[in-house]
Amino acid sequence: MTKIAIVDDDPISSQIVSKFLIATLDCDVKLFGDGEEFLRQLPNLPALDVLLLDIILPGMDGIELLKLLPSTLPDPPPVIMLSGQDKVDTAVEALRNGAKDYMVKPFDLVRLEKAVRNIVEMNSLKAEVKELRHQIKKEIYYSDIIASSNEMREVFNFITKVKDANVPVMILGESGTGKELVAQAIHHYGNRSQRPFIAVNCAAIPNDLLESELFGHERGAFTGAVERKEGKFELADGGTLFLDEIAEMDIAMQSKLLRVLQSKLLERVGGKESIPVDVRIISATNANISEATTAKRFRPDLYYRLSTFPIVLPPLRKRKSDIVLLADHFLKKYSAEYGKTGTEFDKGVMRAFSEYTWPGNVRELENIVQRAIIMSEGNVIRLTDIPNLSPVPLSQMDSLEPFLESLSEVPTLEQMNELIIKQALKRERGNISTVARKLNIGRATLYRMIKRFRLNEE
Ligand SMILES: Nc1ncnc2c1ncn2[C@@H]1O[C@H](COP(=O)(O)OP(=O)(O)OP(=O)(O)O)[C@@H](O)[C@H]1O
Ligand SMILES: [Mg+2]
Repeated sequence: MTKIAIVDDDPISSQIVSKFLIATLDCDVKLFGDGEEFLRQLPNLPALDVLLLDIILPGMDGIELLKLLPSTLPDPPPVIMLSGQDKVDTAVEALRNGAKDYMVKPFDLVRLEKAVRNIVEMNSLKAEVKELRHQIKKEIYYSDIIASSNEMREVFNFITKVKDANVPVMILGESGTGKELVAQAIHHYGNRSQRPFIAVNCAAIPNDLLESELFGHERGAFTGAVERKEGKFELADGGTLFLDEIAEMDIAMQSKLLRVLQSKLLERVGGKESIPVDVRIISATNANISEATTAKRFRPDLYYRLSTFPIVLPPLRKRKSDIVLLADHFLKKYSAEYGKTGTEFDKGVMRAFSEYTWPGNVRELENIVQRAIIMSEGNVIRLTDIPNLSPVPLSQMDSLEPFLESLSEVPTLEQMNELIIKQALKRERGNISTVARKLNIGRATLYRMIKRFRLNEE
């Protein structure tokens, strides 16, 4: 129901207007004899949809009241001014101060009703637009993260919950699932976004250099320390420090890190001074860090401290609906980049994509699409433009994990395929049909692979 208030010192006029509006609109009308009375009652009134305001009032006049409204209400109602005199300058002043309409008494009631209706319609339109905006914002809120799956929706909810809280977050997930992207989203959409986001890859920096990298060093702290250098902690002050591949940090460094996190003070290498730091820590790993804790390769106290808010990014094969979306996204992105806009996937390509197990996750998909666009001729990406995506069966992937962890470098897909097929052939004593069925690939594909990997020579 539309809520209307009339402030007018002429009771007869306001009675007539009120009766007419109630008869023609679905509305509720409150009457006030002067501005002070209205302001006094205002806190007890429901949010008004329209306010009809007379200009000449005892005490404070209508224009003054109009000017006061924005400072009294966060969202002041639209105002229609009613005036006994037809004076251009008061009309101008009223409109300049935000009145939506201006009517001279005795006014045409039908016109007034129309003016009120217009405003009510505008209000609901505005509310609708606001609601739509809100929805759009929700959909594309973490705009760099392309996803539609329920699994990723949960990730989005998690980001929304933790982004403004200064709590440590640990992001777990296979390689290429988007861990760094999520870390950036937490920072960029959170309340530290105006301060730096600094990423440190603990696996890329030798452990004996990591301390100076993180905490900085004083001049002469060690050979080669010719200048004082600020560490990443100081550079990230007020912002976020992203400790990637945290499981690779050695035990000695873990203790130093823990001390800094507990005291919020650090000492540069070779320094005496305690420097206060305010840094939010986001860590990530694709290793099984809780297992590393059991195996005493990772300090449990540090682990608990960093992982109060853990989030697991599901592998791409567990969120099939994202595959299509991401493939399209990378198609648009890279075809524009390489001047091949309008490129499309040929039929069968999407299917091959969604059936594949993506051990390299989103990064692998991105690379394959990028490469296919370069390779493609005409405006079509054909199956022949993408590498042979023979599916790695899930059961095999799981048994591969310990094997993968034992490798210093991530094997290529080709190497994985070779390994899987070799194992399967051995287990099935070379029975092609059984192997093909168990690996869920065609016999022809299997023969082709055997030939390619020269497994028939063994
Ligand atoms: N949901 C997504 N939407 C768009 N791009 C994505 C998404 N997830 C990952 N990517 C892209 O895939 C690539 C790999 O992501 P990212 O570096 O965040 O993975 P990661 O989990 O940190 O991998 P690693 O463990 O190997 O470091 C990046 O180029 C990233 O932009
Ligand atoms: Mg990463």
